[in-house]
Amino acid sequence: MNTNIFDETFNKDFFLNNFGKKYLYKKDIIRNHSKIMSLDILNEILSIRTNWNNKNFIMMLDRKPINYSEYSSLFLETAGKFLRPDVDKVQNWISRGSSIVLNEIDSMNTGLMSVANELQSLTGGRCQGNLYFSMQSHQAFGPHCDEHDVFAIHFEGEKIWNIYENIELNPINHPNFKYSPEERIKKAGKLIDQVTLRPGDLLYLPRGQYHDALASMSGAIHVAFGLTYLKPIDIISVLWDKLINSDYMRQDIDRKSTKQDLKNHLKTIALELEKVICTDENTEIFFNNIEKWPYKFKDYSLNNIISEGRKYKVSKLVKIEKNGEQAFLTNGNNKVLIPKEYLEVTNFILKQDFVTDHLINSNFKHLSKTIIIDCLKKLNDMKVIS
Ligand SMILES: [Fe+2]
Repeated sequence: MNTNIFDETFNKDFFLNNFGKKYLYKKDIIRNHSKIMSLDILNEILSIRTNWNNKNFIMMLDRKPINYSEYSSLFLETAGKFLRPDVDKVQNWISRGSSIVLNEIDSMNTGLMSVANELQSLTGGRCQGNLYFSMQSHQAFGPHCDEHDVFAIHFEGEKIWNIYENIELNPINHPNFKYSPEERIKKAGKLIDQVTLRPGDLLYLPRGQYHDALASMSGAIHVAFGLTYLKPIDIISVLWDKLINSDYMRQDIDRKSTKQDLKNHLKTIALELEKVICTDENTEIFFNNIEKWPYKFKDYSLNNIISEGRKYKVSKLVKIEKNGEQAFLTNGNNKVLIPKEYLEVTNFILKQDFVTDHLINSNFKHLSKTIIIDCLKKLNDMKVIS
């Protein structure tokens, strides 16, 4: 499914005014939102029991997580016994006002995958989508900020989002950035805006923007697509092996070193870091890491495979050699005469990297099916195609 959420005017304005800087609320911008996620789609996804475990199916009640054992049961499956969310227990908790958070829902259907892909190509980031299902007036989280950009897309019911004045500078997922609920309320600052998200609406929050949300109708669903970008700290772990190769970095420090000796060591470490890290080779590594940063979201397209028929890889070691009226297949050592009726097809195939039944049939409609099938079989037997 191609969602095409963002048109060109959105891109221009968004990158000029909002990306990484300022929150943005866009009403009714998601086309086909009811085909991407709805209560019915959520019911279907939830019902595939084997999808869910204690990491990706979280329940919260009034800002507190519910213990997984309180809403799961032991199920006997082919690979053994597993604790999975139990429909009756989960629904019981929901009736009492609990929320469900489904982590990494981005590849659960083609619509969500398509949104995630579009957000990745828009921003160059790595996308993870988490779904939030909530009941009226029961908040799952108080004021907080996320360590990534958030594109919140609303799918069912209504939710009021509070946006606070402060933006935390470059938070990451690390204990240094974990604050208590009281600290977070203080850090969030004054409330500066309140927006109500309804199905098809989008709210963009830059990384670190303090916010919270409250469902104003029961059964509210939104998916928060989080976009993470490559950071210098990520490159350090990529280049770690280069440091290991430095003889200086592996040397033993004399335990009797004076503070001045250690200060000198720190200076040498800084110089060594510059020498080892600032190289053309590492610039290439950096560049390639940015290129391959986004996740590869790929959906199956079995229909295409079925309609294309069998796919063959064409050998590049074989060519056609002419000798007067006759044509031969040769790999440099052996030669095989190509019957006249196979010559046109064989010539075409050898010019391709891959061929499919559909490609051959549609290019050679004037030839009989028997000739094509026979020619492909012989080429396959001779490993010209495989
Ligand atoms: Fe959040």
